[in-house]
Amino acid sequence: MTKMTVPKLQAMKQQGERIAMLTAYDYLFAETLDRAGVDTILVGDSLGMVIQGNDSTLPVTLEEMAYHCLAVSRGASSALIIADLPFLSYQQSPEQALMSAGQLMKTGHAEVVKLEGGTEMAPTVEFLVSRGIPVCGHLGLTPQSVHQMGGYRVQGRDQQRAEQIKNDALALQQAGACAVVLECIPQPLATEITKLVEIPTIGIGAGSACDGQVLVLQDMLGLNEGRAPRFVRDFLADSGSISKAVAAYVAAVKDGSFPNLEESYS
Ligand code: KIV
Repeated sequence: MTKMTVPKLQAMKQQGERIAMLTAYDYLFAETLDRAGVDTILVGDSLGMVIQGNDSTLPVTLEEMAYHCLAVSRGASSALIIADLPFLSYQQSPEQALMSAGQLMKTGHAEVVKLEGGTEMAPTVEFLVSRGIPVCGHLGLTPQSVHQMGGYRVQGRDQQRAEQIKNDALALQQAGACAVVLECIPQPLATEITKLVEIPTIGIGAGSACDGQVLVLQDMLGLNEGRAPRFVRDFLADSGSISKAVAAYVAAVKDGSFPNLEESYS
């Protein structure tokens, strides 16, 4: 497979080809995902929960993100590597964000950084992009704000919050973000945003109309049994091997059969 790049990822939206993204945090899983045709690997700060066993992403440090990102980069030759800027590594100022993003790229070999937030983060996104750093946004349920949101809840169910998320998506696009993750928002809202913006939307619990999908790897391998949210499908159950499960995920994202209505919020 040829190397995925930011311009290629953006062209996929124009060409109507869905983007398959999964998280990974280490070398061997990254290699497995890469071989199975995953377009982009997210080194998510969800590692704070699935790798470290914390009950939120808040304790994750920049050094930990760079460590896992470097391991992933050694396993991925085709997939685009996106790494999360962890809590308090970018919120203080655009300059702080630049140094943190630089560390993820220099020592972790990240190719894109992801940060949470909308309009309030637009100046930071613009600052990073103007210095050659591709940025992916993250809207809806933003796990670094879990305490402010009062838990991991679906966002944008009321008109006011829905309008705010739409405006945030436009602000991120205007600031130069190359893509935006939409987490846990009603399917109709994600559909509207996907039509509204030219940059790819990557959904997680946001319905099938997004330009791409992302899941936490351990969730789609059924390791979160009994605790998985409704938007998670266990791809390992019917596949027999991890590589076949990942290939089944890629195929289901590409043909639009994942997520189905039961795996989405109305
Ligand atoms: O940290 C992460 O894995 C994420 C995804 C859930 C989108 O941000």
